[in-house]
Amino acid sequence: MQEQLSSLLARASAELQSIRTRPELESAKARYVGPNGEFTALMKQMGSVAKELRPAMGKLVNESKAILTAKLDAALRAIEASEMSARLGPPIDPSLPSPDEGPGTFHPLTLVREEVCRILRKVGFVVADGPEVETEFYCFDALNTPPDHPARDPQDTFYFPHSARFANVSKHEPGERYLLRTHTSSVQVRTMLKGPPPIRIVSPGRVYRRDTSDASHSANFHQIECLYVDRNVTVRDLKALLDYLFEALMGPGTKTRFRPHYFGYTEPSFEVDLSAKHLPKVNKEWIEIGGCGIVDPEVFRAVGYDPEVWTGYAFGMGIERLAMTLYGIDDIRVFYQNDLRLLRQFTGAT
Ligand code: DAH
Repeated sequence: MQEQLSSLLARASAELQSIRTRPELESAKARYVGPNGEFTALMKQMGSVAKELRPAMGKLVNESKAILTAKLDAALRAIEASEMSARLGPPIDPSLPSPDEGPGTFHPLTLVREEVCRILRKVGFVVADGPEVETEFYCFDALNTPPDHPARDPQDTFYFPHSARFANVSKHEPGERYLLRTHTSSVQVRTMLKGPPPIRIVSPGRVYRRDTSDASHSANFHQIECLYVDRNVTVRDLKALLDYLFEALMGPGTKTRFRPHYFGYTEPSFEVDLSAKHLPKVNKEWIEIGGCGIVDPEVFRAVGYDPEVWTGYAFGMGIERLAMTLYGIDDIRVFYQNDLRLLRQFTGAT
């Protein structure tokens, strides 16, 4: 019996050390100390042990039972500890510096915006700002947009109710409505009303239209506006600036062309196309990129400039469209989804 006890203890201790889960432990417990367990069976043999051997044997059985119980307890504690550490995850040292990857990267729209401004600053443009909440005067009337023009339709433009108040956005006429600007051209008007020519501004910012979002539309997107007012400004100056800008932005081999168009605030007006077949994913010869023209005398009259003295050019374009062309992105929605897999690809250089 003594031998049986010690061999049972040896087996049990080897087995219990390798146990990792509660069900394994329960079944081991049943096999050793359960009603039909091996140890229980040995204890039952005590009755058949010779009387004189019984005290020594009893002591041995009790000791063995204590050892076995301690081993079962240890196995349970080991299981509990591993369950707890699985819940806590890997050990951390809260005093260590954050594992964040250091400074982030610029959003692709920011990169394009900054690059366009940098290129234009080199030739004398300064960055101008204007409010995103605008009024009908700055967004439409002063830009020679007639009251029945489709761009003013509430189906296309977000208007605020008459009761809305924006203390930091000045109205030109008391009765006019606030709206979310549909283009950055409103900054032309605000800038000209601030002072006399010459003017040379670039104005990037958010614009809003009632569009249903899809791969090429978003109700909220970004534009860059340019306005140059001086004496004797011609279409040739405008074309030269756009040639310079797009070549600097998109690389050598980029070409621009004008197609006649209509905008109320410029006359003549053009749509600007660019050709940049060297860029990845550009598979069309010409891509429409913005609108431009020679500032209409009506716009100068609205801001109090003498159209006999002053001339100018203006243009505007969408930053998303530029970034999509430049980086070969084919769905505008990715710009607003904050997916790090996309954003991490932009490390700073355009
Ligand atoms: N505002 C126009 C648009 O949102 C773009 C534009 C066209 C801007 C002609 C201009 C311009 O400054 O002269 O589509």
